[in-house]
Amino acid sequence: MIVCTNKSEIQDLITKEKAKGTTFGFVPTMGALHNGHMSLVKRALQENDFCVVSIFVNPTQFDNEEDLKKYPRTLERDVELLKTVSNKIIVYAPSVDDIYEGNTKSEHFSFDGLEFEMEGKFRQGHFDGVGTIVKRLFEIVTPDIAYFGEKDFQQLAIIKKLAQKYNIPVTVKGCEIFREENGLAYSSRNERLKPDYKKAAPFIFETLTTAKEKFGTKSAKEVTEWVEKQFAKNKFLELEYFIIADISTLKTVKRKSKSKTYRAFVAAYADDIRLIDNLALN
Ligand code: PAJ
Repeated sequence: MIVCTNKSEIQDLITKEKAKGTTFGFVPTMGALHNGHMSLVKRALQENDFCVVSIFVNPTQFDNEEDLKKYPRTLERDVELLKTVSNKIIVYAPSVDDIYEGNTKSEHFSFDGLEFEMEGKFRQGHFDGVGTIVKRLFEIVTPDIAYFGEKDFQQLAIIKKLAQKYNIPVTVKGCEIFREENGLAYSSRNERLKPDYKKAAPFIFETLTTAKEKFGTKSAKEVTEWVEKQFAKNKFLELEYFIIADISTLKTVKRKSKSKTYRAFVAAYADDIRLIDNLALN
């Protein structure tokens, strides 16, 4: 397994390999790898000769200093875990300086309004930070295909838009949410959940699943009110938002239309840990 910590090292390696016709899949991560990440890596390995996994806790996408400080950093364990899967993985684990060269700031982007919905409303500057890092990583890694989880559905939509707007020669693919047996979506934040909250967290997926059933016969407003009531009764989880949105605009649905595709999105706090999840409705 090759672990690169600076961009010239990985760029040299990839340029040489590409000249031989080698194809590269890419899975950008912030580390603390879990089965959700690994499902993306496995898919990338199936569809490409090599998989590059970047591990970088990107400071510009955090709107909360404390959250950035507490974000788990487990590089050695991550590398060991990746080694168990394949030797066709290249890890890129840069320093903040290697990426930002002394200017740790976001570029400003327009993603045609996608950035103003949901997470964009609750996490100031978040998608400028994500756009900045992913654009740089695409420039450094020059992957053929990049894989992103539907767990962060809005991020996936924004990255597709980024590639399209900047004519970045990469195919962006979305991958299904990988869940624990109890339905809880894998997340690096789950490790920080205290036992009572960990036990309560599968309620998010259970509620999304029932919301999906109800959406067959009820309006988006009725389903939303029902979900809000369920969360109000749950003493371990505090709902930040529940939204049913059209997947092409991510705007909250006002009136259902048979020709559109909808998804339900949740953000909720379990103690001080913010969890997100979503589910396709039709
Ligand atoms: P991170 O939260 O580490 O996630 C890396 C990738 O793994 C994302 O594409 C995310 O959607 C995917 N992922 C996380 N949990 C998943 C699950 N349970 N099932 C399927 N995929 C899952 O997302 C980021 O990092 C950052 O914003 C990043 C894109 C790396 C930019 O810094």
